[in-house]
Amino acid sequence: MNIVDTYKDNFLDYLNSSITIKEPENLYKPIHYILQLGGKRLRPILTLLTCDLFGGNSKQALNAALAIEVFHNFTLIHDDIMDSAPMRRGHETVHKKWNVNTGILSGDAMMIVAYQCFENYEPTMYKKLLTVFNKTALEVCEGQQLDIDFENRNNVTIAEYIKMITFKTSVLVAAAMKMGAIIAKVDDAEAAKIYNFGLNLGIAFQLQDDYLDTFGNAETFGKQIGGDILENKKTFLFLKCIEIANKSDVKELLKLYSDKKGNAQKVQRVTELFINNKIDENTIKEIESYTNKAFEILNSLTLSDEKKAVLKNFGLNLMKRTV
Ligand code: IPE
Ligand code: IPE
Ligand code: MG
Ligand code: MG
Ligand code: MG
Repeated sequence: MNIVDTYKDNFLDYLNSSITIKEPENLYKPIHYILQLGGKRLRPILTLLTCDLFGGNSKQALNAALAIEVFHNFTLIHDDIMDSAPMRRGHETVHKKWNVNTGILSGDAMMIVAYQCFENYEPTMYKKLLTVFNKTALEVCEGQQLDIDFENRNNVTIAEYIKMITFKTSVLVAAAMKMGAIIAKVDDAEAAKIYNFGLNLGIAFQLQDDYLDTFGNAETFGKQIGGDILENKKTFLFLKCIEIANKSDVKELLKLYSDKKGNAQKVQRVTELFINNKIDENTIKEIESYTNKAFEILNSLTLSDEKKAVLKNFGLNLMKRTV
């Protein structure tokens, strides 16, 4: 079995024994539902893996890994409400299966459960981990607000977009790795480097999420294809198309994106405009570029070549994902 699968299995055992359904069921069932719906478990795997690579005991990182996965799933419940998304991991979203109020409260409770996961660490470690976690959680909120603000703006730049995805997505991937490093008690300089590696990998990861939202396959991706187009999301795909398309395509794209209630035809036409302007290829190049930036940072780490190769492989596999 490959090393990543081992971390995933260990994490899932821990998750299954920790998250159970209690009373009132309408609060805890949605929490159990979203956490059992699957998902790649990318962030907790990275916490455990990073801890091990830096010579720590990954068992000690299980609570931090669980905190991060519970927090991530909480953001997904609220994100699906904000994005009016009907499907997550191939199943109904929490607010569709239950209702919006249930999604809000179960999400809030998950945020608190995430905090509880840290309670087992001794005070010095607890303080270090919470400092990273608090900063990250607030940044995710900032990124999510920018994402929503951008829906109604027509002058978003690619630099602003990168900042937005750095906050809504990358900081959590980066923090997941940094926490693993902190638990392994590495020095601050090394922890900062692994954070930066995660940050660039996270940017590539969100670019790919945007790519798959238009060009993925609903069966494997598990989300509604074209959801970003329907919501007028200012993704890299849209912004690049505005940058490189001819005047008439730009005009048409802007007109399509002025429509607040989209339909399948809108998704189809926007996708055609993206393809005609080679936006798919452009996005893949951008994903590769951020992945390579992450790999450059990897070189500056003091880890052995063998350990660096594990992280590099992880990044390469992430680029190949369809899920
Ligand atoms: C989805 O995250 C939200 C983004 C930041 C793109 P993942 O793609 O990690 O979702 P799961 O947990 O594997 O379902
Ligand atoms: C979500 O970004 C980021 C967070 C949940 C914080 P998206 O809105 O692109 O994520 P998906 O595509 O719904 O998973
Ligand atoms: Mg979403
Ligand atoms: Mg969103
Ligand atoms: Mg998305």
